[in-house]
Amino acid sequence: MKKTILVTGGAGYIGSHTVVRLLEAGMKVVVFDNLCNSSSTTIERIERISGTRPEFVEGDILNEDAILHSLQKFSVDAVIHFAGLKSVGESVSNPLTYYKNNVVGTLNLLNAMRQLNVKTLVFSSSATVYGTGSTPPIAETAPRSVTNPYGRSKLIVEEILEDLYRADPDWKISVLRYFNPVGAHPSGLIGEDPRGIPNNLMPYVAQVAIGRLQFLSIYGNDYPTIDGTGIRDYIHVMDLAEGHLAALNYIDRKPALAAFNLGTGRGVSVLQMVDAFERATGKRVKYEFANRRKGDVATSWADPSLAFQEMGWKASRSVEEMCADAWRWQSTTL
Ligand code: NAD
Ligand code: WQD
Repeated sequence: MKKTILVTGGAGYIGSHTVVRLLEAGMKVVVFDNLCNSSSTTIERIERISGTRPEFVEGDILNEDAILHSLQKFSVDAVIHFAGLKSVGESVSNPLTYYKNNVVGTLNLLNAMRQLNVKTLVFSSSATVYGTGSTPPIAETAPRSVTNPYGRSKLIVEEILEDLYRADPDWKISVLRYFNPVGAHPSGLIGEDPRGIPNNLMPYVAQVAIGRLQFLSIYGNDYPTIDGTGIRDYIHVMDLAEGHLAALNYIDRKPALAAFNLGTGRGVSVLQMVDAFERATGKRVKYEFANRRKGDVATSWADPSLAFQEMGWKASRSVEEMCADAWRWQSTTL
């Protein structure tokens, strides 16, 4: 029988790509999203890509009854929980908003799931839970520490899930720690649509290339790295989407609580990323060097071997594909 998956935040960037993959794998999908950082046109585009329209509930995870209602109405088997706020800077200015949305919202979801005995969950965590203290490649066993309320909201939820599993081992929980998600669906129909001036590198680069922003400020060229600029583990959003499918299959086979890094295991510098973008798109990206950004680490990349060993998942898309797909989305749809 077809499984029904409730996807909170399924109209957002990573959620929408995952919904496409779930539909393509023959699952039934219910998107539960309050559209605070997305638009319902994404649902139409998901249908155009996959040939199937997911159910869509415009709902808020701060409303436990609304979650209960959807879980019941659609006889949900499992939940993938993307809904949350994700801006580090905003979380520093508005910590309570972040704790309410990301922590209280998750508690509501867990309570509703428990009431209906839906005990299978994939949770969007982040490499941000590794803080600044670890030397890459970073494995799941690295100590966790956080430096801002956004990161703390992820860490708190991870700890709540651990307590929940300890109290009731019937839960099947997969915690996925994403490194730096970039790129878009190859159709160019869905992708990342940041509001205002982007904070993250790839959307900023794409907006410079299209002429919306004048130049990229590269934060720091004096790091102890190959070219002085910061190194990150950029991962194609379609690889991430496939990681969620693998995680769902895995917790079905091997019920437990497990955390996995979703990264490529490869570090790429800011200058290497700019160069890859220019080669993949034929567009010039003007840049200037600026001071280091507060809170940035020099290097971060994953040890993704556990996800391969346990779930059989590994990222396969190149940096050039990430750039070409991000550009197709930026230049044809946004
Ligand atoms: P996104 O903002 O594009 O998607 C989040 C979705 O959740 C949006 O559609 C938004 O409308 C919805 N949402 C937010 N609060 C909600 C609420 N209270 N009720 C219902 N819906 C709500 O973000 P994304 O990049 O797709 O991130 C998805 C998840 O992955 C988030 O939890 C984020 O913290 C995590 N994550 C993202 C990154 C990244 O760099 N993009 C990295 C690591 C982890
Ligand atoms: C990447 C590199 C910058 C912008 C953030 C969050 C993290 C996670 C992913 C959610 C760094 C440099 C960037 C610019 C630049 N999100 N840069 N000029 O900081 O690794 O991670 O997004 O969980 O929590 O902190 O990603 O894309 O902002 O930066 O030089 O205009 O690009 O210094 O070296 P980051 P990023």
